Amino acid sequence: MFTVAILTLSDKGSRGEREDKSGPVIAEMLDADLYEVVHTAILPDEKHIIESNLKALCDAIDPVNLILTTGGTGFSPRDVTPEATTSVCDRLTPGIPEAMRYESLKITPKAMLSRSAAGIRGRTLIINLPGSPKAVRENLAAILPALDHGLEMLL
Ligand code: MTE
Repeated sequence: MFTVAILTLSDKGSRGEREDKSGPVIAEMLDADLYEVVHTAILPDEKHIIESNLKALCDAIDPVNLILTTGGTGFSPRDVTPEATTSVCDRLTPGIPEAMRYESLKITPKAMLSRSAAGIRGRTLIINLPGSPKAVRENLAAILPALDHGLEMLL
């Protein structure tokens, strides 16, 4: 069983002005026999806040195995999730965002607009998903088949 944290990055969501539909989509897609969601949070698009939350989850005595973020991967000036992620990672895992964009480009050319990153801090894998529920569904579906094997290597 892998422990999972889901972080939704959204200024409006963090102020309670927009319902978080994407976080629940992630939780719903994870096989309950393999994954246990132990933490969820909605955070503003602030690089230092995202970084400190990622670090706390990875550096805890009992770190989560996987952090899935949603949102903040596009081009608007407030989109800083990939920068916060790469700045806290020890090692990047570019194959994961490559697979997400490869599969997503078959669905929409807008997939190239996701700047998603992924990497490892300590024993935790961090993966950025885009923000919309549709994009979350399509991107997560692209990587789920290989995810548990990657997580096993980190144990
Ligand atoms: N990937 C898939 N599979 N399906 C989508 O609809 N939307 C794209 C892209 N990736 C999309 C997708 C769009 S429109 C944007 S702007 C980027 O993800 C970034 O999304 P974000 O800013 O919500 O993180």
